[in-house]
Amino acid sequence: MLQSLKIELIKTKKQKPAADQLGFGNHFTDHMFIMDYSVDNGWHNSRIMPYQPIVLDPAAKVFHYGQTIFEGLKAYKTDDGRILLFRPQKNIQRMNRSNERLSVPELDVELTIDVLKQLIAVDQDWIPTAPGTSLYIRPFVIATQPALGVAPSTHYQFIIIMSPVGAYYTEGVNPVKIFVESEYVRSVKGGVGEAKTAGNYAAGLKAQEIAKEKGYSQVLWLDGVHRKYIEEVGSMNVFFKINGTVHTPMLNGSILDGVTRNSIIQLLKHWNIPIEERPITIEELYEASRKGELEEAFGTGTAAVISPIGELNWQEEKLIINGGLTGELSKKLYDTLTGIQMGKVHDPFGWMVEA
Ligand code: COI
Repeated sequence: MLQSLKIELIKTKKQKPAADQLGFGNHFTDHMFIMDYSVDNGWHNSRIMPYQPIVLDPAAKVFHYGQTIFEGLKAYKTDDGRILLFRPQKNIQRMNRSNERLSVPELDVELTIDVLKQLIAVDQDWIPTAPGTSLYIRPFVIATQPALGVAPSTHYQFIIIMSPVGAYYTEGVNPVKIFVESEYVRSVKGGVGEAKTAGNYAAGLKAQEIAKEKGYSQVLWLDGVHRKYIEEVGSMNVFFKINGTVHTPMLNGSILDGVTRNSIIQLLKHWNIPIEERPITIEELYEASRKGELEEAFGTGTAAVISPIGELNWQEEKLIINGGLTGELSKKLYDTLTGIQMGKVHDPFGWMVEA
């Protein structure tokens, strides 16, 4: 418990959106958490306050040099009224790895989870309960020092905002069409691809825009050196079921260490389904498809959980996966993981943490 946490409650609560109007990240709860950092005082002045705009100097380093990191995790309300968080330690530990890469000061993992629980308690009536909905939590750190010299900021703010969400893709758990990107790259080894930082997502927008114009929901990212190894799909990790074995690109320094990715690997091992983490080329995927061995493909992430891939387009060669339908394994993984998250399916891993 953070002794000095100040709590200022909103006077008039906002109207909550209907479950079918949620979409992803369009509505925000009544309150937010903020904490300041200065080189002299460390992290201090932690407060929960009404959700509101923040005032920043136009010279704040975040605007110019992108010194910022973020996380994304979810809270759920069970049928018997408990509030569950999915693997929050994993997210906050990863936040510190992102902090380290972007020269941002470290946060105390347990204190962060503690304030997060307090924020959720204040806004608990914002957790939606309809199937496929949850409370998406967005912690982030921004560099606030007003100075244009390129050097780590001396001042930061750590903020947590929360948003009741539905499906990330309008397709929901129906397959999406994916364009294999051969020109732009998301990241390279030694870059910041492993960190959850704004620049990775800004760097992906152009390719996403072009893919959209061609009628595709997202892009499949290839590695930045050879343009042949598969890295991620959109902002998600990616898995392929080939001839009974599940394959996913191994973490190599430019791929995000996804919490959902890690959970899927654990689930597959638990079910004794063979799973391999290794470099996968786009050629071998097309070859597997030609031989009739590519059974399923899906992206994994906190936002969409599991997003089946129904079609790939690589250099104008289209590949339809599982007849463009949601595969059996994708569906089973989605049902099991969301079941565990909603407290409806037994959690053999101890992933869920009561808030
Ligand atoms: C996720 O899949 O959780 C993501 O990282 C997407 C998010 C940036 C909206």
